[in-house]
Amino acid sequence: MSDALVDALWYLGRGTGVAALVLFTAVVVAGVLVRRGESAPGLSRAAVAAVHRWLSLSALVFLVVHVATMLVDPYAQLELVDVVVPFLGAWNPFWLGLGTLALDLVAALVVTSLLRHRLGLRAWRAVHWAAYLCWPSAVLHTLGTGTDAGTWWMTAVVVACTAAVGGALVLRLLPRRVPAPRRAAAPLDAAATGDRRDVPAHLAGLRREPVGAGARR
Ligand code: HEM
Repeated sequence: MSDALVDALWYLGRGTGVAALVLFTAVVVAGVLVRRGESAPGLSRAAVAAVHRWLSLSALVFLVVHVATMLVDPYAQLELVDVVVPFLGAWNPFWLGLGTLALDLVAALVVTSLLRHRLGLRAWRAVHWAAYLCWPSAVLHTLGTGTDAGTWWMTAVVVACTAAVGGALVLRLLPRRVPAPRRAAAPLDAAATGDRRDVPAHLAGLRREPVGAGARR
């Protein structure tokens, strides 16, 4: 393999790893919004759910490229088994294993989401809790194996991702907002506008009279 190709693989592997981390962070945040039935600025609830799905797919694509690149990168010295079974690698087994653990959890999330209608909501939701373990595993893997760990920009990326997921967790733990009951037409308002549909019989004949200085004497 030429030096240029090895360098290209190295850049591609690192770039796709960072992209996957940022996208998974966004997936967790969007997932919390979906779970709480919240909208986001400029987005309806349905749009947030669609964004969650699309972010998950995009993160998956970057993750697949990241792992495939690392697999052929001669410096990483990975075996196929390292991609599936955590903590067996010859190089940096613990920190690399956390990446493999994150990948296994992502695979479980994807498979159960595809089979959601067959599994039922309870089983699907039980596995979906794994997302909360997947994200910190990926972050620790980044800090433990990454060439760029310790650079100012990687620190900024990790701090921003941690703040985003931390904020989402706080939101997740807050009591859910109960949707306000639809405001019934105020009887007097309805009476004033002449709308008699919701007006109790004893108020139906009332009209709103001006009060104070403007009141008729
Ligand atoms: C959700 C899963 C994963 C995420 C989000 C992720 C993300 C990352 C990130 C951000 C880096 C640091 C790149 C840099 O320093 O610029 C990295 C490094 C690395 N990852 Fe992953 N990774 C994941 C899973 C895996 C798996 C399953 C493997 C292979 C079994 C793997 C192999 C590597 C290797 C070998 C490095 C070191 C690259 C280097 O800096 O030389 N990763 N990963």
